[in-house]
Amino acid sequence: MNKEGYSYRISAAGRVNLIGEHVDYCGGQVMPCALSLKNTVWARPNGENVLRIRWTDLPEVAVLDLGDLEQYRDKQHIKYHAGCAALWREAGHRVVGCDLLMDCTVPFGSGLSSSAAIEVSTIAALATVAGEKFDPVEVALVAQKAEQEYAGVRCGVMDQYASANGRAGYAILLDCATLEREYIPVRLGDYTLVIADCKKPHSLVASKYNERREEVEEALRLLKKRLAVNSLAEVKPYLLEEYRTLLPAVIYRRAKHVVEECERVRTAARLLRGGDIEGFGRLLNASHASLRDLYEVTGKELDSLAFAAQSHPACLGSRMTGAGFGGCTVSVVKKSAEEDFKAFVAEKYARETGYRAAFYSAEIGDGIVVEKE
Ligand code: GLA
Repeated sequence: MNKEGYSYRISAAGRVNLIGEHVDYCGGQVMPCALSLKNTVWARPNGENVLRIRWTDLPEVAVLDLGDLEQYRDKQHIKYHAGCAALWREAGHRVVGCDLLMDCTVPFGSGLSSSAAIEVSTIAALATVAGEKFDPVEVALVAQKAEQEYAGVRCGVMDQYASANGRAGYAILLDCATLEREYIPVRLGDYTLVIADCKKPHSLVASKYNERREEVEEALRLLKKRLAVNSLAEVKPYLLEEYRTLLPAVIYRRAKHVVEECERVRTAARLLRGGDIEGFGRLLNASHASLRDLYEVTGKELDSLAFAAQSHPACLGSRMTGAGFGGCTVSVVKKSAEEDFKAFVAEKYARETGYRAAFYSAEIGDGIVVEKE
């Protein structure tokens, strides 16, 4: 696909979340890293009132009428672009007609936030073509709204935030209630992060995800009868125990995951800052166990993949990352044993599930990058 003649190249990242899973929509802290896997958009103004979208790996061209973006709400692929343009304009920004050429290196359906990378880079491209300087935090918030309204996932802010605001070499410790953030250097010494995809075709992620959200909203509603809190993240684990009789058993388990995971993130940030990689790894294992037993978002494949990783002697910790129900694990592995680790995990996982795991090589990359062509 010819990339000549475009004025700008804009990219936004996929992400891996190190810890703090299923807590962003409960006001908790998360610790994602942007990845060097990303969506790149080549962009130029076209002087018409349309978005003309092409892909480097697809033959089709989509032409979206900027005068009537509503009509694309249910259209696979382009609903994201239509949603981003409509909501960016609704937020008070100018959207002009442009040609956009898309190239995504974030594997789809892997739980590494390909959709956030597409949304964030699309909005950044629209702003750039319109000659606007943009605030990456605002871009993330509008992209999150596009995911909620056009993809139907009631997601938190983590993915789009990391995609827009990541920094090479750093994890973002993000408080999802206040959007305060701290960049923590990921210095793992002799260790490295390994991302493995369970490659199980997953469906119904959106509906199961939304179901979990309802369950924790119910937990908060019930706890509020006795506790003056605004979010589940504000509830300390001992208070949840004190008031557990207010909650039906399933709702209690969901809430327990959230409040304990929030504690784990605080500890993990401390350990990472202090260079205690072993302690950090143990928290990853504890997070996975909680997502499996309390939050119930892992499933046989992710459990098998994480367990295979955890049982390798060079691995300090492994957990599912992202929404779950399929997708990826992230593991902390001794660099010198990386290849042996991958072979061991792939073999054990295939034997147990029949699926072939995929391993992605990615660095911790930057969020939005805008370059003039
Ligand atoms: C998905 C959502 C995020 C977050 C994670 C789980 O990736 O988009 O907002 O809730 O799941 O931590």
